[in-house]
Amino acid sequence: MLTVSGLTTEFRTRKGPVRAIDGIGFEVPTGVAVGVVGETGSGKSVTIRSVLGLLPGYGRVIGGRAEFEGHDLITASRKRLRHVRGNRIGFVAQNPFGALNPVLRIEKQFANVVRAHRRMGRAEVRDLALRRLESVQVPSPERVLRGYAHELSGGMAQRVVIALAMLHDPPLVIADEPTTALDVTVQRQILDLIAAQVAGGDRSLLLVTHDLGVVAQYCARVVVMRSGEVVEQGAVADVFTDPQHPYTRKLLAAVPPAPWSASARVEVTR
Ligand SMILES: Nc1ncnc2c1ncn2[C@@H]1O[C@H](COP(=O)(O)OP(=O)(O)OP(=O)(O)O)[C@@H](O)[C@H]1O
Ligand SMILES: [Mg+2]
Repeated sequence: MLTVSGLTTEFRTRKGPVRAIDGIGFEVPTGVAVGVVGETGSGKSVTIRSVLGLLPGYGRVIGGRAEFEGHDLITASRKRLRHVRGNRIGFVAQNPFGALNPVLRIEKQFANVVRAHRRMGRAEVRDLALRRLESVQVPSPERVLRGYAHELSGGMAQRVVIALAMLHDPPLVIADEPTTALDVTVQRQILDLIAAQVAGGDRSLLLVTHDLGVVAQYCARVVVMRSGEVVEQGAVADVFTDPQHPYTRKLLAAVPPAPWSASARVEVTR
């Protein structure tokens, strides 16, 4: 579904170019959820933003490819990237309020995403938006459509962002720490929702997270990053039970011995 190879990205700084990621390579096979883990600053978000063409102006991909549906996203035109984002790849960012427009009614935001890719009348847009909001278990979706982002709780806002990301049934969903801005009580609900949208079928998920327990629960494959490089990748069951790289061992050893992590370990050793 997505094949990233040799991906290298630099930021221009006053002290000259700084390399944020250096020769990253991994695959997201069709129908598979892939987790990306690694400590803060290891390059997880830069990798995602490089693939999606969402780097700030002073960031530049200086090498590598990201093959998706027969095209390289890195050299794709802006027009093609806009088509791919939203239509073929759904993106869920960390902070839902950053992803929603504060001054537009939610309904208008659905209409904008729809109309970027399809011709659709107002009633049709509304029907589609209601269906998507129901599928992510938003209560009173009619009221949500009439309202604004600031009227929503964090968990509800992230549900709306997921509904927007899923609007055109994209075959690939990329989520960058989709729950870290949320209350712990809703974190699992949101991950369950994302997993449910992707599970069973041809859809793939690329899920960036700090949480190895989340990877154990939701992902079949894992990519371990450190200092802008991939140090290890493979099936979760293999990497978590028999980590090859000392850094992966360190990450696994740092998982707190809480009941959920113990059960997560049991899961993957089966
Ligand atoms: N906008 C930016 N300008 C300059 N450097 C940046 C920028 N964004 C990221 N970097 C650098 O790129 C490296 C990777 O950052 P990135 O945000 O990808 O880390 P991350 O793995 O997503 O971390 P976290 O887990 O905290 O989200 C870091 O060393 C960071 O300093
Ligand atoms: Mg990040």
